[in-house]
Amino acid sequence: MTKKNTHFVCQMCGASHPKWTGKCDSCNSWNSLLEERLPESLPKGLGTKKGNQISLFQLDGLEKQPYRWLSEISEFDRVTGGGLVSGSAILVGGDPGIGKSTLLLQVAAKMSEKNECVYISGEEAIDQIRLRAKRLRLSNAKIELAAATSVRDICRTLEEKNTLRLVIIDSIQCMYVDSLDSTPGTVSQVRTSAQEMVRLAKRKGFAIILVGHVTKDGSIAGPRVLEHLVDTVLYFEGDRSNQYRILRSVKNRFGPADEIGVFEMTEGGLGQVTNPSALFLNEYDEQISGASVFAGIEGTRPVLVEIQSLIAPSSQGAPRRAVIGWESSRLAMLLAVLETRCGLGLASSEVYLNIVGGLKISEPAADLAVAASLISSITEKPAFSKTVIFGEIGLSGEIRTVSQISARLKEAEKLGFTRAIIPFEKKPEKKKSRYSGKIEINEIKDLKSFLSLLTEVP
Ligand code: TYD
Ligand code: MG
Repeated sequence: MTKKNTHFVCQMCGASHPKWTGKCDSCNSWNSLLEERLPESLPKGLGTKKGNQISLFQLDGLEKQPYRWLSEISEFDRVTGGGLVSGSAILVGGDPGIGKSTLLLQVAAKMSEKNECVYISGEEAIDQIRLRAKRLRLSNAKIELAAATSVRDICRTLEEKNTLRLVIIDSIQCMYVDSLDSTPGTVSQVRTSAQEMVRLAKRKGFAIILVGHVTKDGSIAGPRVLEHLVDTVLYFEGDRSNQYRILRSVKNRFGPADEIGVFEMTEGGLGQVTNPSALFLNEYDEQISGASVFAGIEGTRPVLVEIQSLIAPSSQGAPRRAVIGWESSRLAMLLAVLETRCGLGLASSEVYLNIVGGLKISEPAADLAVAASLISSITEKPAFSKTVIFGEIGLSGEIRTVSQISARLKEAEKLGFTRAIIPFEKKPEKKKSRYSGKIEINEIKDLKSFLSLLTEVP
């Protein structure tokens, strides 16, 4: 029987359940509930005691720009929206082993050239961090190190410092508050530890970076339970078998969200990749069929990516559809539109789609480039050479316009592309503002005219 003073908390999303179930009703993750003790006293409401009066302000007062510190690792600074803001809290989430500690040690080393930085590790001993620093050739950096897990001790130590600019906590799932009964890594420990340290950061004016491991099985609380507590949420993504890593901002109170920074994991740590388009374009062979180049926007930056597809006959009733880096529901929609509006029957074929370089695309603007790659795969004819493609496809087969056309075209020109297939724009004034470069532009209105363009390819 369940004890009365405990409840079951989902370690992925933090939802509370009175009974154990295999699946969390709130976030649908499996096997993520863990029994935790209920707080000693439940909130009782305000009662009769009066509070103090708070002051209310006008919107147009004198605003004080928050102070920012640059790490001078430009890929990192861009993702944070132009440097770390004083008193702000940043969560850096990612799979174990992806490179979070490496990245943050590099950031701390750079920052410590001009500012006081503290790096607190709950996972590694001081000597292990020193070894890593040696490998990264950062042994001379003026970082102050500690191996600690007690939030009470950490706060006490940080409280005494007055010129502190940056604190890194690696990782928040190791930290514990001794007044709570639950073990480190549970939702209540992770939340309370983060709250205490973030409050201290706001009061003392230093920036705090919390590292959070993403775990699939829910054995420790995931970074999602902290997202609302911090100002900025960054995820470090990538495939461990591939050397490229992407740092992506999914929430940022001090800058644009969805910004990406691209890094390369090398022997000597993470290096910056300042021209990611070159990375996501395969050594582009003009002769292959089933490939096209999409000019996308990631955050504020244009990025060219290659899209590859393969169509194979299938003997099964429900042929396989596999997608890497794009939404599979979007592919299903696109296949239905191609079938209904253009008569391209793919119902009995297996379809595989891959975004080269491990990038994840979420823009509908990729529709047209995906369609080009699929059509080229069916016809087994290479698509256009030296051409970038973008545009959203509507359900009736119309091509809809997308944002930031001139930025996409400029990037394509920079990388040596000579032609672009883009959505038709009715308004002449908008057309003019697009672009004045050398690229040949084909504007198209619907899928039919796109198909006839494709058939022109010899
Ligand atoms: P780490 O930063 O410890 O990951 P996390 O903190 O996210 O768990 O990175 C671990 C991986 O990075 C490990 O597999 C080794 C690799 N690595 C390098 O390839 N080069 C390096 O210079 C360093 C320090 C690590
Ligand atoms: Mg680590």
